[in-house]
Amino acid sequence: MILPKLKNITVERYVEGLSKFKKIENPIKLSANESALGASPKAINSFEKQKDKIFNYPESNSNLLRDSISKKFNIDPDKIICGSGSDQIFDFICKIFLERGDEVIVTEFGFIMHRIYASLHGAKVLLAKEKNFKASVDEILKNVTDKTKIVFIANPNNPTGTYLSKDEMFNLRKKLRSNILLVVDDAYFEFIDKDDFSSGLDIFKDKANVLITRTFSKIYGLAGLRLGWGYSSKQIIDAMYKIKPPFNVNRAALAAGAEAIKDNEWTKRAIDHNKLWSEKIFTILEENKIVSNKPTANFFLMNFDKTKINSDEVFEKLAKERLILRKMEQYKIPNSLRLTIGTGEANQHFIKSIQEICK
Ligand SMILES: Cc1ncc(COP(=O)(O)O)c(C=O)c1O
Repeated sequence: MILPKLKNITVERYVEGLSKFKKIENPIKLSANESALGASPKAINSFEKQKDKIFNYPESNSNLLRDSISKKFNIDPDKIICGSGSDQIFDFICKIFLERGDEVIVTEFGFIMHRIYASLHGAKVLLAKEKNFKASVDEILKNVTDKTKIVFIANPNNPTGTYLSKDEMFNLRKKLRSNILLVVDDAYFEFIDKDDFSSGLDIFKDKANVLITRTFSKIYGLAGLRLGWGYSSKQIIDAMYKIKPPFNVNRAALAAGAEAIKDNEWTKRAIDHNKLWSEKIFTILEENKIVSNKPTANFFLMNFDKTKINSDEVFEKLAKERLILRKMEQYKIPNSLRLTIGTGEANQHFIKSIQEICK
């Protein structure tokens, strides 16, 4: 049978962390930068209460959740749009701005979904060189042409764990043409504790030509429910509402998200846990000649050039210990693996295993 002819889809597919290792029993997944502590018990309670209402559609425009977000961050709810993950916000923004022939700048090792959505919507994606796995404002500016429409940057970035300071971000916006949209992906901002860092929302709250994205998948531990949001000028947000599918965020996600964002105690616990373990693990990595980013978010990009054993061998040996890390082939980062900070038990197990492997 001859099927209807498909469009020529050339976009590369996202490769998820665990997909190749389903055979391992009780794997310890340290490959997707999920929350070590899981979701707030209050969020889980709110999620469970939805079970009798799943026959009802959710609110189409996430009004209650937008109110909670607006109160927490002191921002206008009409400038917020919620999505099924912040991924969906990247999709919306590309959909409303990009036409064939437009150009989008991402950094060399910038979060991969930014470039996937940009090319999906027909743009040419330019990679700005990084210096030592850190984004460079100068290199981004070198790639600007008449056709540039959007610059994407995750700060701190996944998978490199590096960040641009508040001054560098400010400088980037100042030097970009005003009709280039700057998208700042704040996915991991809660974890970072550096004096020269500010979140995208804090720096650019009043900038009409910036879109900030945030997620409930990391610090709030709700990755499985798919929930994120975007904040920008009314004009841009209104355009996104025009193309947004109705009921794009499910009711369980909305209910859990509204409670998660209010549970400051749980959020603090997650931050403290991450700080404690990321500092501990960083020391162990240094002792074992594994080069990585300094503690910033809830993961490390680890390079094995100075160890006796390469990243593929380390991956296999850790997998035998049920520890699943993320390979960096899709990012074309050689001899490296990404490790997510896990529960105390998982981290102890990782430390013991990596010390054994590298000795
Ligand atoms: C930088 C960055 N942005 C966004 C996301 C995805 O967030 P969401 O789960 O909200 O789609 C991730 C997930 O790994 C990420 O690392």
